Amino acid sequence: MLCSPDESAVPGVLGESTVSSVPGEPAVLCSPDESAVPGSSVVDTSAHPPVDILLDATDAGGPSMPLGFLPHKQEYVKGVFATIATHYDVMNDLESLGLHRRWKARLVRRLSARGPQRILDVACGTGDVAIALARANPKAQVLGLDFSPQMLDIAKRRAATELPLTWRINAKGEALPQSNLSFVLGSALELPYADSSFDAVAIAFGLRNMPDYARVLVEIYRVLRPEGAFYCLETSNPEAPFVLVPFRLYMRYWLPLLGKLVAGSPTEYVWLDTSTRAFLTKRRLITLIQNTGFVQPGYQSFMLGASALHWGIKPA
Ligand SMILES: C[S@@+](CC[C@H](N)C(=O)[O-])C[C@H]1O[C@@H](n2cnc3c(N)ncnc32)[C@H](O)[C@@H]1O
Repeated sequence: MLCSPDESAVPGVLGESTVSSVPGEPAVLCSPDESAVPGSSVVDTSAHPPVDILLDATDAGGPSMPLGFLPHKQEYVKGVFATIATHYDVMNDLESLGLHRRWKARLVRRLSARGPQRILDVACGTGDVAIALARANPKAQVLGLDFSPQMLDIAKRRAATELPLTWRINAKGEALPQSNLSFVLGSALELPYADSSFDAVAIAFGLRNMPDYARVLVEIYRVLRPEGAFYCLETSNPEAPFVLVPFRLYMRYWLPLLGKLVAGSPTEYVWLDTSTRAFLTKRRLITLIQNTGFVQPGYQSFMLGASALHWGIKPA
């Protein structure tokens, strides 16, 4: 089977590439863009193993993440984001030299091309992706979910200033502002939604922070409707050694220093390095996406592999 050409793969843009087939992988990987035929599954999901053996034990938290660390990961991560919430946005710009905006725009464009009506942004943080999705899909209902009250407070303030509001009169006759975006405090490990609730689910720079990647994907799969699309933007490890070495030095030494200079707090920025090292390779993430049951998986690599947008479709 031939895959549909990727609308957002830009030939000649340094460091960007889209994988629509992986040598050595059994499945054909396609871009779930608007030209992909819904239901044109290329993977027989009935043949997939149960979720608890999606990956072997070391992959549950990544190769360098001791399993004993996992039970505490949620609390640790909550503490990290409670501490850095106020500096999160400026640090994001500095860390990525503003490139995260461009990567997020790719996610928003791909997802929006499918014309979704109900969209969930998991681990929405300070809300930039959710706000962009709400803007790009003005007729859709967008929900941003995160377990950090501190991050959500900032998201709500941003949405109030960055999104056009309409007014609703409540039973008491009071005029209340509303938009097509709302935020919810909740855990990605137990999404508070019924099965098949959403047309599209996004998660940006969130999965790496979760204690159980497979469980999050299963939850996302559950709340997606058949033919719904999943997009995961995440930090990644460059494959080429000549890129990986400077990347590791940058993550290990420069980011904590930047955290200290800008936010007065280096230790939280060590987490970005730790969690990125421990995260799945791009191909392992593809395997996890496939084994969860998604079809037409693929990924687009950014900045010589330092981040990647993965996707998959829930079969009809
Ligand atoms: C690096 S931030 C990403 C925020 C935003 N999506 C972005 O792209 O800038 C990771 C977010 O994941 C959230 N998070 C981590 N684990 C979570 C979980 N189990 N459930 C919900 N949110 C979680 C954190 O609170 C944090 O806001």
